[in-house]
Amino acid sequence: MSTNNVSIDIDGTSVDLPVRHPSLGQDTVDAAPLAKHALFTFDPGFTATAACESKITFIDGDNGILLHRGYPIEQLAAKSDYLEVCYLLLNGELPTKSERDAFVGSITSHTMVHEQIRSFFNGFRRDAHPMAIMMGVVGALSAFYHDSLNINDPEDRRISAHRLIAKMPTLAAMCYKYSLGQPMLYPRNDLSYAEDFLRMMFSVPSEDWQVNPVLARAMDRIFILHADHEQNASTSTVRLAGSTGANPFACIAAGIAALWGPAHGGANEAALNMLYDIGDVSNVPKYIAKAKDKDDPFRLMGFGHRVYKNYDPRAKVMRDTCHEVLDTVGLRDSKVFKLAMELERIALEDDYFVSRKLYPNVDFYSGITLSALGIPANMFTVIFALARTVGWISQWCEMVSEPGFKIGRPRQLYTGYTERAYVPIDKR
Ligand code: CMC
Repeated sequence: MSTNNVSIDIDGTSVDLPVRHPSLGQDTVDAAPLAKHALFTFDPGFTATAACESKITFIDGDNGILLHRGYPIEQLAAKSDYLEVCYLLLNGELPTKSERDAFVGSITSHTMVHEQIRSFFNGFRRDAHPMAIMMGVVGALSAFYHDSLNINDPEDRRISAHRLIAKMPTLAAMCYKYSLGQPMLYPRNDLSYAEDFLRMMFSVPSEDWQVNPVLARAMDRIFILHADHEQNASTSTVRLAGSTGANPFACIAAGIAALWGPAHGGANEAALNMLYDIGDVSNVPKYIAKAKDKDDPFRLMGFGHRVYKNYDPRAKVMRDTCHEVLDTVGLRDSKVFKLAMELERIALEDDYFVSRKLYPNVDFYSGITLSALGIPANMFTVIFALARTVGWISQWCEMVSEPGFKIGRPRQLYTGYTERAYVPIDKR
């Protein structure tokens, strides 16, 4: 669309709505003037609604493009590392050598959590879902940093962002250790972000533990691929919570809650569980038929995406990493991997999936990869949350630093009762 306005007729009056032209992507009609004419727009699921303006991440779903601050995800996954991507998302540019060193130094100096946080874990059952624990302990961080919760102060925002990025691996690993009844490990700042996360997950104080560089690189790549994804459900939740002026730790806890659902971040756990439910390659046709049956709620988890209707560029990178990891740990001939490959093959050929553009998404491969790394399925979404924290906090910082940002307050299309008189209980 090259026009700068669209006009709509409201009761015989022509109302001009300005059209905004983005640097990439669809032109966007500014519907705000409608409010003056007592008219709302209705778009449940936000399929045609831009909820904010942003300079951080761009997705072109039809062409399978994902850019962070203009850089393609494939290049970042191949050439960068997670902490550099964090810097890029937060600050808008790739760091110079000295900026990078200072950033990594700041993150590594914030990796420990307050000793009092440990006692929070004891309030949970050992078999609690780790996402339930993460929502609680990340929200609880708000109670520990009263000195830096002024959301209008850029320095407070910077410290909070660094604290969150630094502490998420420590907290995530603590959840896992708590579920096992093993000692929780303190972070070690001489290791890389991904290496130390794997160490805090898998090492025990009584034994030496060596990191496998292929597996640490795979972990880092999983973090990069999940770092940000524009205005998805959890990011929009963080923005909406943040629009009230809530502190960043509370907002990230809200994002963790939204991420938990199986249609969003819970899909990698659901995808792996689905593979175990299918159980054997011979059962694949039965499950494909279930996925196609309109009367059956079953969906192939790890397939399809709201925005990517060509392919998910993260899935391409994740697929390669998945193969590398399976080779390294000697699981390429495992039953579950063979099953996954058969499902992928059929779904890529079957007209139902092809015509609806339902390709394997990043979660299909990340679930298999995380499992091969030895991570239990209920920790998958926690790892997604850990990695997405930088995206959430970058989007929150962008919103909060905009002059005059205001509370998000959607309206509704009310279809309930019109006014009626109260009925006393003996007359109902
Ligand atoms: N299996 C079977 N059929 C499907 C699937 C699936 N996974 N996904 C969509 N469909 C069908 C759906 O039934 C509908 O068919 P019809 O047109 O005949 O009614 C059509 O495809 C369009 O589906 P939709 O529900 O309108 O699509 P959506 O854009 O609202 O949903 C989705 C996107 C991701 C929620 C959905 O594809 C899904 O539930 N996938 C499985 C869960 C999953 O893997 N989620 C992870 C997404 S990637 C991680 C992230 O970014 O959060």
